[in-house]
Amino acid sequence: MIDLVAVEDEAALAAAAAGLVRTQIQAKPGSLLVVPTGSTPLGMFRALVAEAQSGAIDFGRCRFAVLDEYRGIGGDDRRSLQGWLRRELLAPLDIGPDRVIAFDALADAGMEAAGVERAIAAAGGIDLAILGLGPNGHLGFNEPGSPFDSRTRAIVLTPESIRSNAAYWGSEDAVPRAGFTLGLGTLHAARRLVLLVSGERKRDILARTLDGPVGPHLPATLLRLHPRATVLADRAALG
Ligand code: PGA
Repeated sequence: MIDLVAVEDEAALAAAAAGLVRTQIQAKPGSLLVVPTGSTPLGMFRALVAEAQSGAIDFGRCRFAVLDEYRGIGGDDRRSLQGWLRRELLAPLDIGPDRVIAFDALADAGMEAAGVERAIAAAGGIDLAILGLGPNGHLGFNEPGSPFDSRTRAIVLTPESIRSNAAYWGSEDAVPRAGFTLGLGTLHAARRLVLLVSGERKRDILARTLDGPVGPHLPATLLRLHPRATVLADRAALG
């Protein structure tokens, strides 16, 4: 069952998403949060940094896990997704690497994926996973066809994700061909899921996520099987 929260625009989406994080951290200061990269969460990141600076949220005890990562690039590569998160959110919040569960993009694939699953379990599981909606309904690098019970694993990017990721890096050639992602089963085990959706270009995929058939052909429909899932969407996305 999805709790759909409609907001006016991108600014309202950022404020509402930051509000959900604030409520979570007030209820459980040591929460483990998953946050996505992409353009949609950037407003929420700015709102969270402002709230931390004003003292409205105390991130002093919470931990973060990275949703996905490219493989085969160094941590200081400009395309590193954990590097993106560090710049945009974690460094301004003063969250050091000891409080972040992230993929080592250069490590052995199987060992690294299993290590991230173990680290999440050792941290007590994910309290709140904030997700973006891919143009094809993907969650992280869980592309259409990913089983709902899939665990954290190495993946090969589909031509469609290479195309959509090229928007961030300038060209398709600049997009690494392989990556890691938290699995759909791993995300389903989170205590709460929140999907952020903004803009007209997400209108069709959001409508299918909310009302179309549920199944691995559209990974984001996983939210409809979760006991505590929220979709935060702006008017442009809702149509
Ligand atoms: P976006 O990416 O926030 O840049 O739209 C979402 C995604 O592809 O997961």
